Amino acid sequence: MRHDANRFSCAVLTMSDKGARGERVDTSGAALQEILREEGYQLRAYKMVPDQVEAITETLIQWVDQDKIDLILTTGGTGVSPSDVTPEAMREIIEKEIPGMAEAMRAASLLKTPHAVLSRAMVGIRGRSLIINLPGSQKASRENIEVLLPALPHALDKIQGGTSDCANLGALTK
Ligand code: MTE
Repeated sequence: MRHDANRFSCAVLTMSDKGARGERVDTSGAALQEILREEGYQLRAYKMVPDQVEAITETLIQWVDQDKIDLILTTGGTGVSPSDVTPEAMREIIEKEIPGMAEAMRAASLLKTPHAVLSRAMVGIRGRSLIINLPGSQKASRENIEVLLPALPHALDKIQGGTSDCANLGALTK
Protein backbone atom coordinates (compact mmCIF):
# COMPACT_ATOMS: atom_id res chain seq x y z
CA MET A 1 0.00 0.00 0.00
CA ARG A 2 1.26 3.45 -0.92
CA HIS A 3 1.84 5.73 2.08
CA ASP A 4 -0.97 8.30 2.33
CA ALA A 5 -2.99 6.93 -0.60
CA ASN A 6 -5.90 6.02 1.69
CA ARG A 7 -6.60 9.74 2.21
CA PHE A 8 -7.80 10.01 -1.36
CA SER A 9 -10.93 8.91 -3.23
CA CYS A 10 -10.72 7.65 -6.79
CA ALA A 11 -12.80 6.54 -9.78
CA VAL A 12 -12.31 4.72 -13.08
CA LEU A 13 -13.94 5.77 -16.37
CA THR A 14 -13.74 3.45 -19.37
CA MET A 15 -14.29 4.80 -22.88
CA SER A 16 -15.50 2.14 -25.25
CA ASP A 17 -18.23 2.13 -27.89
CA LYS A 18 -18.28 -1.68 -27.87
CA GLY A 19 -18.23 -1.86 -24.08
CA ALA A 20 -21.09 0.62 -23.75
CA ARG A 21 -23.12 -1.59 -26.14
CA GLY A 22 -22.35 -4.63 -23.99
CA GLU A 23 -20.18 -6.21 -26.70
CA ARG A 24 -16.88 -6.09 -24.81
CA VAL A 25 -15.92 -7.00 -21.25
CA ASP A 26 -14.06 -4.15 -19.61
CA THR A 27 -10.93 -5.93 -18.42
CA SER A 28 -8.80 -2.76 -18.24
CA GLY A 29 -11.36 -0.91 -16.10
CA ALA A 30 -11.50 -3.90 -13.74
CA ALA A 31 -7.70 -4.15 -13.56
CA LEU A 32 -7.33 -0.45 -12.81
CA GLN A 33 -9.87 -0.67 -9.99
CA GLU A 34 -7.87 -3.54 -8.53
CA ILE A 35 -4.60 -1.59 -8.77
CA LEU A 36 -6.14 1.43 -7.05
CA ARG A 37 -7.52 -0.72 -4.23
CA GLU A 38 -4.16 -2.43 -3.77
CA GLU A 39 -2.50 0.98 -3.55
CA GLY A 40 -4.94 1.96 -0.79
CA TYR A 41 -7.14 4.50 -2.62
CA GLN A 42 -10.86 4.58 -1.82
CA LEU A 43 -12.78 3.55 -4.91
CA ARG A 44 -15.93 5.66 -5.18
CA ALA A 45 -17.16 5.27 -8.77
CA TYR A 46 -16.82 3.30 -11.97
CA LYS A 47 -18.54 3.86 -15.31
CA MET A 48 -18.28 2.87 -18.94
CA VAL A 49 -19.27 5.42 -21.60
CA PRO A 50 -19.14 5.44 -25.42
CA ASP A 51 -16.36 7.33 -27.22
CA GLN A 52 -18.32 10.60 -27.31
CA VAL A 53 -16.99 13.94 -26.06
CA GLU A 54 -20.24 14.89 -24.36
CA ALA A 55 -20.64 11.59 -22.49
CA ILE A 56 -17.04 11.83 -21.29
CA THR A 57 -17.14 15.49 -20.21
CA GLU A 58 -20.48 15.07 -18.43
CA THR A 59 -19.14 12.23 -16.30
CA LEU A 60 -15.83 13.93 -15.51
CA ILE A 61 -17.52 17.20 -14.56
CA GLN A 62 -19.94 15.40 -12.25
CA TRP A 63 -17.20 13.35 -10.59
CA VAL A 64 -15.07 16.44 -9.99
CA ASP A 65 -17.54 19.26 -9.34
CA GLN A 66 -20.25 17.37 -7.45
CA ASP A 67 -18.67 14.18 -6.10
CA LYS A 68 -15.25 15.78 -5.37
CA ILE A 69 -13.34 12.65 -6.36
CA ASP A 70 -9.62 13.24 -5.90
CA LEU A 71 -8.17 10.93 -8.55
CA ILE A 72 -9.80 9.81 -11.80
CA LEU A 73 -8.25 7.28 -14.15
CA THR A 74 -9.68 6.99 -17.65
CA THR A 75 -8.92 4.13 -20.02
CA GLY A 76 -9.33 4.09 -23.79
CA GLY A 77 -9.91 6.54 -26.58
CA THR A 78 -6.43 8.07 -26.49
CA GLY A 79 -5.26 6.79 -29.86
CA VAL A 80 -5.58 7.92 -33.45
CA SER A 81 -8.69 6.07 -34.66
CA PRO A 82 -11.54 8.27 -35.88
CA SER A 83 -13.56 7.32 -32.80
CA ASP A 84 -10.82 8.24 -30.27
CA VAL A 85 -11.85 11.50 -28.57
CA THR A 86 -10.62 11.26 -24.97
CA PRO A 87 -8.02 14.07 -25.32
CA GLU A 88 -10.59 16.30 -27.05
CA ALA A 89 -12.92 15.83 -24.05
CA MET A 90 -10.05 16.52 -21.65
CA ARG A 91 -9.21 19.79 -23.39
CA GLU A 92 -12.77 20.99 -22.78
CA ILE A 93 -12.75 20.41 -19.04
CA ILE A 94 -9.26 20.55 -17.52
CA GLU A 95 -7.95 23.79 -16.04
CA LYS A 96 -4.26 22.88 -15.90
CA GLU A 97 -2.31 20.32 -17.89
CA ILE A 98 0.57 18.29 -16.42
CA PRO A 99 2.49 17.39 -19.57
CA GLY A 100 5.37 15.75 -17.71
CA MET A 101 3.16 12.98 -16.38
CA ALA A 102 1.86 12.05 -19.83
CA GLU A 103 5.33 12.34 -21.34
CA ALA A 104 6.78 10.06 -18.66
CA MET A 105 4.18 7.40 -19.45
CA ARG A 106 4.93 7.60 -23.18
CA ALA A 107 8.69 7.53 -22.62
CA ALA A 108 8.49 4.43 -20.40
CA SER A 109 6.03 2.77 -22.79
CA LEU A 110 8.32 3.37 -25.75
CA LEU A 111 10.79 0.95 -24.16
CA LYS A 112 8.07 -1.71 -24.40
CA THR A 113 6.43 -0.95 -27.77
CA PRO A 114 6.99 1.46 -30.67
CA HIS A 115 3.21 1.94 -30.70
CA ALA A 116 3.50 3.97 -27.48
CA VAL A 117 3.80 7.10 -29.64
CA LEU A 118 0.20 6.60 -30.77
CA SER A 119 -1.23 7.44 -27.37
CA ARG A 120 -2.40 11.06 -27.11
CA ALA A 121 -3.14 10.61 -23.41
CA MET A 122 -3.27 13.77 -21.29
CA VAL A 123 -3.02 14.39 -17.56
CA GLY A 124 -4.73 17.40 -16.08
CA ILE A 125 -6.26 19.12 -13.09
CA ARG A 126 -9.82 20.33 -12.70
CA GLY A 127 -10.69 21.89 -9.36
CA ARG A 128 -8.81 19.83 -6.81
CA SER A 129 -8.95 16.61 -8.83
CA LEU A 130 -6.30 14.89 -10.89
CA ILE A 131 -7.44 13.22 -14.14
CA ILE A 132 -5.14 10.72 -15.85
CA ASN A 133 -5.80 9.26 -19.32
CA LEU A 134 -4.53 5.74 -20.00
CA PRO A 135 -4.69 3.65 -23.19
CA GLY A 136 -7.50 1.12 -23.59
CA SER A 137 -5.93 -2.32 -23.38
CA GLN A 138 -5.47 -3.95 -19.99
CA LYS A 139 -1.75 -4.43 -20.58
CA ALA A 140 -1.18 -0.86 -21.80
CA SER A 141 -3.24 0.77 -19.05
CA ARG A 142 -1.32 -1.15 -16.38
CA GLU A 143 2.08 -0.40 -17.92
CA ASN A 144 1.22 3.30 -18.07
CA ILE A 145 -0.26 3.82 -14.60
CA GLU A 146 2.65 1.95 -12.98
CA VAL A 147 4.92 4.78 -14.14
CA LEU A 148 2.95 7.36 -12.17
CA LEU A 149 1.91 5.45 -9.02
CA PRO A 150 4.97 6.45 -6.93
CA ALA A 151 4.32 10.17 -7.55
CA LEU A 152 0.55 10.20 -7.03
CA PRO A 153 0.11 10.77 -3.26
CA HIS A 154 2.46 13.78 -3.33
CA ALA A 155 0.83 15.09 -6.52
CA LEU A 156 -2.64 14.83 -4.96
CA ASP A 157 -1.45 16.47 -1.76
CA LYS A 158 -0.03 19.41 -3.73
CA ILE A 159 -3.12 19.74 -5.96
CA GLN A 160 -5.23 20.04 -2.82
CA GLY A 161 -3.08 22.82 -1.44
CA GLY A 162 -0.78 20.74 0.75
CA THR A 163 2.32 22.54 1.90
CA SER A 164 4.54 19.51 2.46
CA ASP A 165 8.14 20.14 1.52
CA CYS A 166 9.13 18.41 -1.73
CA ALA A 167 12.68 18.08 -0.47
CA ASN A 168 11.57 15.86 2.43
CA LEU A 169 10.45 12.95 0.24
CA GLY A 170 13.65 11.05 0.94
CA ALA A 171 12.45 7.61 -0.16
CA LEU A 172 11.58 8.88 -3.62
CA THR A 173 14.65 11.01 -4.13
CA LYS A 174 17.36 9.52 -6.27
N1 MTE B 1 1.62 1.78 -24.01
C1 MTE B 1 2.07 0.65 -23.43
N2 MTE B 1 2.81 0.77 -22.33
N3 MTE B 1 1.79 -0.58 -23.89
C2 MTE B 1 1.03 -0.75 -25.01
O1 MTE B 1 0.78 -1.91 -25.39
N4 MTE B 1 -0.27 0.38 -26.79
C3 MTE B 1 -0.26 1.55 -27.67
C4 MTE B 1 -0.30 2.88 -26.94
N5 MTE B 1 0.39 2.83 -25.68
C5 MTE B 1 0.53 0.42 -25.68
C6 MTE B 1 0.85 1.69 -25.12
C7 MTE B 1 -1.28 1.52 -28.73
S1 MTE B 1 -1.21 0.16 -29.76
C8 MTE B 1 -2.19 2.53 -28.92
S2 MTE B 1 -3.16 2.54 -30.31
C9 MTE B 1 -2.25 3.68 -28.01
O2 MTE B 1 -1.62 3.36 -26.78
C10 MTE B 1 -3.64 4.24 -27.77
O3 MTE B 1 -4.49 3.30 -27.17
P1 MTE B 1 -6.06 3.58 -27.02
O4 MTE B 1 -6.57 4.09 -28.33
O5 MTE B 1 -6.63 2.24 -26.65
O6 MTE B 1 -6.27 4.59 -25.94
